Amino acid sequence: MIQAAKIPRARIVSTGRFNPPRVVTNAELETMVETSDEWIRSRTGIGERRLADKDVHAADMAAAAGRIALERAGLTAMDVDMLLVSTATPDRLLPSTACDVQALLGARNAAAYDFSTACSGFLYGLTLAEAHIAAGQARTVLLMCTEKMSSIIDWTDRATCVLFGDGAGAAVIQAAEEDGSGRGILSQYVKSDGTLAELLWRPGGGARMPLDIAVLDERSHYVKMAGPEVFKSAVRAMCEAAETALARAGVSADDIDLLVPHQANMRIIDATAKYARIPPEKVFINVDRYGNMSSASIPVALDEAVEQGRAGPGSLVLMVAFGAGFTWAANVVRL
Ligand code: ACO
Repeated sequence: MIQAAKIPRARIVSTGRFNPPRVVTNAELETMVETSDEWIRSRTGIGERRLADKDVHAADMAAAAGRIALERAGLTAMDVDMLLVSTATPDRLLPSTACDVQALLGARNAAAYDFSTACSGFLYGLTLAEAHIAAGQARTVLLMCTEKMSSIIDWTDRATCVLFGDGAGAAVIQAAEEDGSGRGILSQYVKSDGTLAELLWRPGGGARMPLDIAVLDERSHYVKMAGPEVFKSAVRAMCEAAETALARAGVSADDIDLLVPHQANMRIIDATAKYARIPPEKVFINVDRYGNMSSASIPVALDEAVEQGRAGPGSLVLMVAFGAGFTWAANVVRL
């Protein structure tokens, strides 16, 4: 049921991104595993991805993206009172990457924590940010999604290593102003299904199966994925999420200026856009240049969309994601 448009409680004030400079093309991957540019492009739409150097860590990438978002918002790190980090590739298991980022930024007035919802991280993060603001716990939230996927990928497994890239995206979220503009987060939808965890996971290396010789020998500390099953679940879940977020915002597909979907695979993006009835010219795509950067994909895409003038103040944006867990989510936002 379509409802009346909601009065937003929080809004995205600015965005930022960091993409490592090193470009790795499909041709380079052809020299590492038995694959081809034609296979990768036709199945996924990916042409190249960025990989971080050994000494560039998830916290560094987050801080780089976060600094840009703060500067664009006209804020300093001391203005941040909640610092949220989404990552599937924490630099250490203890303490959180968010605390490392806090130290790098000098955000001494902030509370900082990580959360783990894989590729859906940016949209779960918007929901968390809005909740902290609505509860009066924060006025300025710095949300960063940072993924060094190259560190958890099995570079001998052609079925997964061609899909991912490294990067980070950030957003500053503050209370929406009561200026009648309607700018802010209009709807959110978050959902999970933990019964399907083993379709996309890292079995070893955690407390249940600590890193030892057997784990290393079996390479079970790397990402394992049942590709076709993930594909089907992703399409189903992203379509459901898009439909629900539109209804909750009280807007129709025709009202949407831009769809910014999770950038995992062109075929998943096409299916989601078609189901949501968003025409191709209103779909933002950068999976061809970055591959799947997990939770960093959407904020990097949103930042590029703004930079390219594809979206700006007042634009109505639908964002949809799906990831390991499984988790999935969608938001409608008026920028
Ligand atoms: N190069 C060449 N051949 C390959 C490669 C590769 N890189 N990878 C797999 N193949 C082969 C397989 O071995 C198989 O060969 P076989 O038929 O001789 O056994 C053949 O290609 C087909 O394999 P499938 O896995 O059935 O290929 P499919 O068409 O399903 O495409 C893909 C695989 C691209 C992974 C697809 O399933 C997919 O996109 N799934 C979604 C995965 C995803 O995006 N995950 C990211 C995390 S979740 C998210 O972000 C949404």
